[in-house]
Amino acid sequence: MVSDAIIADNLWKSFIETRGFFKRKKSIVEALRGVSFRVHRGEVYGLLGPNGAGKTTTIKILSTLLLPDKGKALILGHDVVEEAEKVRRVIGVSLSVERGFFWKLTGYENLRYFGLLHGLHGDVLEERINYLFKILGLEELGARDKFYEDFSLGMKARLSIARALLHDPPVLILDEPTLGLDPASSRHIRELLVKLSREEDKTVLITSHNMFEVEMICDRVGIINKGRIIAEGTVQELKKIVIGSVPVVFVFHLKRDKSFVESFFSEILGSIGFVVELSEDYYRVRVLVRRGEEDVIVHRVLEKLRSVGGRVKEVRIEEPSLEDVFIKLTSGSGGG
Ligand SMILES: Nc1ncnc2c1ncn2[C@@H]1O[C@H](COP(=O)(O)OP(=O)(O)OP(=O)(O)O)[C@@H](O)[C@H]1O
Ligand SMILES: [Mg+2]
Repeated sequence: MVSDAIIADNLWKSFIETRGFFKRKKSIVEALRGVSFRVHRGEVYGLLGPNGAGKTTTIKILSTLLLPDKGKALILGHDVVEEAEKVRRVIGVSLSVERGFFWKLTGYENLRYFGLLHGLHGDVLEERINYLFKILGLEELGARDKFYEDFSLGMKARLSIARALLHDPPVLILDEPTLGLDPASSRHIRELLVKLSREEDKTVLITSHNMFEVEMICDRVGIINKGRIIAEGTVQELKKIVIGSVPVVFVFHLKRDKSFVESFFSEILGSIGFVVELSEDYYRVRVLVRRGEEDVIVHRVLEKLRSVGGRVKEVRIEEPSLEDVFIKLTSGSGGG
């Protein structure tokens, strides 16, 4: 009996990357180095990881678009390599939002075309399109009669998910479904994915580098980094990894580049984990310190920041989040 909708078992994949002016420099990129995880039926599962972690590569293998070098993957019991046709029938996929749509056709005409390809027609197809336009909020955005070339990014993302759902597949596989979308579109898509899992018993696999999103909607999460799953569990289970730690956030302005800020903090903090983000004029540095050591660390950081001309806007202590799990797992301090 197959109890898991998606099984990825020790997937390996490397690419040959060519660089340089004449593309003569070749190097091997190990995108996946033994990725294993299982997605239970009916759950929303998030594959969370930074840029280049191997999320898209994993999704492409599961969607039969790329062959693994080694390892095995099953969707509802069907092997993605040996039984690719059967796999394609049970999955709905959205990879890159714009891929494959016709720019000179309307939203309706695009969906109708892909519906016909799936062997749907007549009233069944009409009803399905109407239903999808409704649940994706495309109707109210006027997407039905608008040419695809005039779609906003949010409309394109919604249409891409509608297309993935046309043949009512039990498994949905979506690569960064809310990337670049405004809050309203993101929220609509997130709510829909949860609804599809709860009410239609669909299994949903998404990738994301948005911790907040994954924390909000995923029943379970696999954290992927450098081609490996480094932790897996429910958000609550994963947060146990950071029990005893306190996230301190520094928001400041400093006229130096990001790599300076990164090495500056490395020097102050040693093996304590942190992440640096730059947004508009402000750096946001999140530091994961051991409970009880907050005051000392805050004092030390503020003092050093002042000495290099930093203008501190805010220092705050936050609740542990998935981001901290990630910081903890990838920082030099290891598991302690
Ligand atoms: N076709 C390819 N040729 C060469 N290298 C590739 C190819 N596809 C992916 N890679 C490399 O494999 C690694 C993993 O890439 P992948 O796209 O799976 O990461 P990702 O987690 O989806 O990242 P992102 O968040 O940027 O989308 C990266 O180092 C990437 O440069
Ligand atoms: Mg990707």
